[in-house]
Amino acid sequence: MYRIFNTPEQAAQFTAQLLHEFITQRPDGVLGLATGGTMEPVYAHLIERLKQHNTPLEQLTTFNLDEYVGLSRSHPQSYYHYMQEHLFAHLPSCPDSINLPNGCATDLEQECRRYTAAIRSHGGLDLQLLGVGSNGQIGFNEPHTAFNSITHVVELSEQTRLDNGRFFDNFEEVPTQAITMGIQDIMQAKQIVLVVTGAHKAHTVLDFFNSPVCESMPASCLKDHPNFLLVMDQAAAQLVSPELLSTLA
Ligand code: GLP
Repeated sequence: MYRIFNTPEQAAQFTAQLLHEFITQRPDGVLGLATGGTMEPVYAHLIERLKQHNTPLEQLTTFNLDEYVGLSRSHPQSYYHYMQEHLFAHLPSCPDSINLPNGCATDLEQECRRYTAAIRSHGGLDLQLLGVGSNGQIGFNEPHTAFNSITHVVELSEQTRLDNGRFFDNFEEVPTQAITMGIQDIMQAKQIVLVVTGAHKAHTVLDFFNSPVCESMPASCLKDHPNFLLVMDQAAAQLVSPELLSTLA
């Protein structure tokens, strides 16, 4: 299924409402979270709703998709820091169980195994929120990542480092590695919501629709998910014809 909104703001509001409904209906649910510019307005609207309704969050469990290798939790560009800055520090109460991969673990391979095991020990993800990178990556799963992958260490592509370089003072500071949930971890979520906004993502959205389900376009796996929703604004959806859109109806 897909939804198209006139503005990125409306897409963010809708997504926040959907997340809020999920938390209200499943106070003890397992929520997969994402980072990136797309999610900033989503979290801003979610905070507003959670405050307005004084929604209890103590029983909620969250798992973030990914984290840079080598950035400490206090580093302003770590995803741990991002989540505090854009969501957790502003909530009326905090989920008891907040999980992100530890990109500073001494044994990264063991940390990856621990992370997938932790997701599974919570019964898997109930809802996974996703953004998409310009090359079709989800989490930090770069093109050609195996669809049966679980949490793993990735070498970030030049494209991804350039895309994310805008958040750093200079390109050299952008980490070269990250830990990401695998495609299989993501696909095992019971529900998946992908949010894509802005004209700069229009070609990515077109590629997503044109691509067969194959590992060269990581996000294409989502087309096979039984409960997948793609939320876009007009600008992101502008290159996709109504015929192509209807393939996701
Ligand atoms: C990064 C992150 C993804 C994110 C994507 C889009 O590479 N690893 O999890 O969804 O980029 O980010 P943005 O919303 O800033 O475009």
